[in-house]
Amino acid sequence: MKIGIANDHAGTKLKLELVEYLSKKGYEVTDFGTDSFTASDYPVQGELLANAVRDKKVELGIAICGTGLGIGYACNKVRGIRAACVSETTSARLSRFHNNANIICFGARIVGLETAKDIVDTFLETPFSNEERHQRRIDMITEIEEKQ
Ligand code: RB5
Repeated sequence: MKIGIANDHAGTKLKLELVEYLSKKGYEVTDFGTDSFTASDYPVQGELLANAVRDKKVELGIAICGTGLGIGYACNKVRGIRAACVSETTSARLSRFHNNANIICFGARIVGLETAKDIVDTFLETPFSNEERHQRRIDMITEIEEKQ
């Protein structure tokens, strides 16, 4: 599976560890940066990742900043993106199963490496339920987007 990953300076260390982890598991990972520990602006990396998901260059995305919040807000401004900010695996699972999230976000200052691995494993391995009530609600979210 092709996946994308993006982060600001706060997420660089965790991102590098996850890229290694996911590559060893056989995922084809496109890294949208940054690889720097110097302060950077998370909307830049968030937009790059979200555009790649929207354009289907990657199937799913992972976004990391200090809290996961700022980069998630940026991703969610791109049409068709449903970016879920989580800090545990139940939300990661339901973000896929109920909400068909296409980007998972978390904070490098909030979760440690082992929790981050569990979150990405859960996110990448859980399919959307395809149940009518969940698809209907997702379609309603898309309608809000289209009214803007
Ligand atoms: C950077 O200090 C920090 O604000 C950023 O990584 C993120 O947590 C914002 O939401």
